[in-house]
Amino acid sequence: MGKVKLDIGSGPGNFWFWSKDDGDTVLRLDRVPFEGVIRWECPDPLPVEDKVTDEAFIGGMLIELDTQQQLSLADELNRVMKDDGVIWMRVYGGSLGFPRFFKKLRELGWWVVKEEMNNIVREGNTLVTDYFVEIRKV
Ligand SMILES: C[S@@+](CC[C@H](N)C(=O)[O-])C[C@H]1O[C@@H](n2cnc3c(N)ncnc32)[C@H](O)[C@@H]1O
Repeated sequence: MGKVKLDIGSGPGNFWFWSKDDGDTVLRLDRVPFEGVIRWECPDPLPVEDKVTDEAFIGGMLIELDTQQQLSLADELNRVMKDDGVIWMRVYGGSLGFPRFFKKLRELGWWVVKEEMNNIVREGNTLVTDYFVEIRKV
């Protein structure tokens, strides 16, 4: 049986980070109805059943959410992920930049197990460090 993978706040592109193997179900979700993307707006519930998701990827979306949306997203991730699933994130400023979101995830049992610098990106006149974060249930 294939894996269920979510690209949350996917934007218009097919993200390069993972591949789709035969039998996998990949749902790309965004509030903007880009082609091939399911329209979903945080804090609405993610459009999947409880504990069915093997991998979730959230790239660069956290910075666009207010605190309540971030906390709802943490609850929804906890609801939809399999216990042995993995959440991958690309986070501007890294996990320390979003303490409420990552604290909530930890309270639900989901811990950052790996965090590494990915890139330095220009946001207007500012340079921002972009991190890859791997989160698992421990
Ligand atoms: C910076 S883009 C990142 C796109 C892509 N994930 C990437 O890594 O390149 C952030 C995306 O989050 C989406 N987004 C922002 N707020 C959202 C919300 N409340 N619900 C759903 N999508 C949202 C935006 O429409 C946008 O496509």
